[in-house]
Order: sequence, then structure tokens, then C-alpha cells
Amino acid sequence: MIRIENLSKSFTNGNSKLWALKDINLQINKGEIFGIIGLSGAGKSTLIRCINRLEEPTEGRIYIDGKDITSLDKKELRKVRKEIGMIFQHFNLLSQKNVFKNIAFPLELEGLPQREIHSRVNTLLEYVELADKKDAYPAQLSGGQKQRVAIARALANNPKILLSDEATSALDPKTTKSILELLNRIRKEFGLTIVLITHQMEVVKDICDRVAIIEDGSIIEMNTVEELFKNPKTQTARTFINSIKTDVEEEIIKPDGFKGTLIRLAYLGDSAKKPIVSQMIKKFGIEVNILSGNINELMSTSVGHLILELTGNEDELNKAINYLKSQNVSVEVIK
Ligand SMILES: Nc1ncnc2c1ncn2[C@@H]1O[C@H](COP(=O)(O)OP(=O)(O)O)[C@@H](O)[C@H]1O
Ligand SMILES: [Mg+2]
Repeated sequence: MIRIENLSKSFTNGNSKLWALKDINLQINKGEIFGIIGLSGAGKSTLIRCINRLEEPTEGRIYIDGKDITSLDKKELRKVRKEIGMIFQHFNLLSQKNVFKNIAFPLELEGLPQREIHSRVNTLLEYVELADKKDAYPAQLSGGQKQRVAIARALANNPKILLSDEATSALDPKTTKSILELLNRIRKEFGLTIVLITHQMEVVKDICDRVAIIEDGSIIEMNTVEELFKNPKTQTARTFINSIKTDVEEEIIKPDGFKGTLIRLAYLGDSAKKPIVSQMIKKFGIEVNILSGNINELMSTSVGHLILELTGNEDELNKAINYLKSQNVSVEVIK
């Protein structure tokens, strides 16, 4: 659906040149919710803005449905842009226009007949549950309602792709959930492909299928959300995951304070239901001390983590660890 090849982007400020994106390669599938997470200044907005060429790539190619959009002229680009909706952190609504007119705006630009515009806008208003607010002005709406208007406007032209740049960052947690639910519904019902930028791991956990972590203009890790939570490979990924743990934090555990072997287990939904640890205690002559545990609910499954201290003879310990691995649990020996 979207294929990005060797994308780089530089900005020149006076004599200095800054590479905001460095050799980005990724592929986003149709109907997927693809997350891009990173700290402020990492290059997220620049990346997403290259996808509809609000930003001109310095190097590289971007293909949408096989078509190279980096080589399109203005007219062709306008056509492609109609298939790409976008929503923003600060909603970007027209403050002088009411809700109805905001959503109608892209359709008016298209020169659609008034009757068609009315029927389309009313359908969209129903869809985002704002039919009763159609005469209200943006200033009279809550943040969540404003974002719903922006979503309806982004959907007006029936796009295939929705780009979301920190769309929930200005919203409280409860409103964030409801907007994410709406985005998920849109993906399911219209088969839309959603590229979602965020600095909040919570958002990735709740809604994304896959995620790329971007740092200093480069993708440093990319995986399914399940795998990322189960086996984060970079310290940045671990820090993002830890940012949403509600339970005992791993950081609190200082490996030096323990005599035994410390292991960190990660397991997906199904394995979590089996009494793997108690089986292990029964089968092998070792002692187990549970140091911390948490479970993260993802969109399709859950990922659990446990940190255990094992004591016993080395042979039994190795057997126990192999047993865990045979049960589809990933095991990392911390110490
Ligand atoms: N128009 C611009 N001119 C110069 N530098 C820019 C411009 N836009 C972004 N940058 C720089 O590019 C880097 C990435 O910015 P951005 O993509 O906005 O990051 P993010 O969205 O992850 O916070 C930052 O260092 C930012 O200052
Ligand atoms: Mg940004």
C-alpha cells in the first residue's frame, strides 16, 4: 500500500544542514494501523508529511499502490492527495465556520453539488456522533468533539489512507480512548490504512498492528506490537514500554542485590493462561522468587512479563530455563 524507499530529508538553515530523516525504509500494508513512535524532534512529523508531500523528500522514493508519488506533477499530486486524509494534534479546524461547514469544506473545493454535499456531511456527522452539533462553532466544542469533526472532514473525500499526527496528544486519557476506538472502527468498516504518529506508547499498545521507532531521523526498531512488547531490542523501545507499566518497575530491581539467577520472561496471551511457573517449580529442584510482574493488554492479545530469581544447582537451572523456552516463553537471563 505505502512503500518508502531510502527516504532522506534535510533542512537548511543558513549555513547549517540538518538531516531530519536518514535513509528510511518501510512498507505499510493495506488496512493496517501502523504506528511511528519517537521523542519530540525525532522526525515523525517530517516523515508523515513526506507521505502526502506536504514536505518534499530530499532523497528516496515513496510509492502508494505502486505509484511513485515523488515524481508526480501538481495536478497528479492533487488527485493522490484526495486519497489521503490527515488529522493533527491541534485539529486545524476553520474557526469561522461551523461544524457542518468544516466538514463540507473539502467537498466544496471539489465542486460537488450542494445536495450531494448535504447528504455526505450528514452521513459523516452521524458516523462521528455529532449530528446534534452541526451548527456549533469549533470554540464551542470539547477537544474530543473537535477531533471528531477533523476526522469527519478527513474522511469526506473517501480517502484510502489516513495520516494521524499526534491526533490524541492534546486529549485526556478517556477521550484518547474514544478517538482511538473511532479510528479502529474506521479501519474496520472502510478498510482504511492508518499511519499514526505518537510519542505515547499507550496509543501504540491500544491500536497499532505494527510500529516503527524513530530516533534522530532513523528507524531503530520495527516490529509487530506483540513482538515489540515481548522482545524489545533497543533501550529506547524498553524505555517506551516501561513508560506505561503500572506495576512494579524493572528499574527498581538492582541485579546486584540478589544471589540467585535473575531471568526475565515474556509471554503472549495463550501462554499466560498456563501455570508454567508452578509446573517449573514442581518439575525441577529449584527455588523461585517472583520479583515483578505485569501484563499489557494489546489490541489483539496480551503480553506478560515476569522477573524471577531462581536458585538451585546449575544443571537444574538450565533444565528449568529450557523448559520455559519449550513452553513458548521467551527468556532473558539478566544475571
Ligand atoms: N521546516 C523546517 N525547517 C527546519 N528544520 C525543521 C523543519 N521542520 C522540522 N525541522 C527539524 O527536523 C527535526 C525533526 O522534526 P519533526 O519531524 O517535527 O519531529 P517530531 O515530529 O518527531 O517532533 C527537528 O530537529 C526539527 O527542528
Ligand atoms: Mg511532530
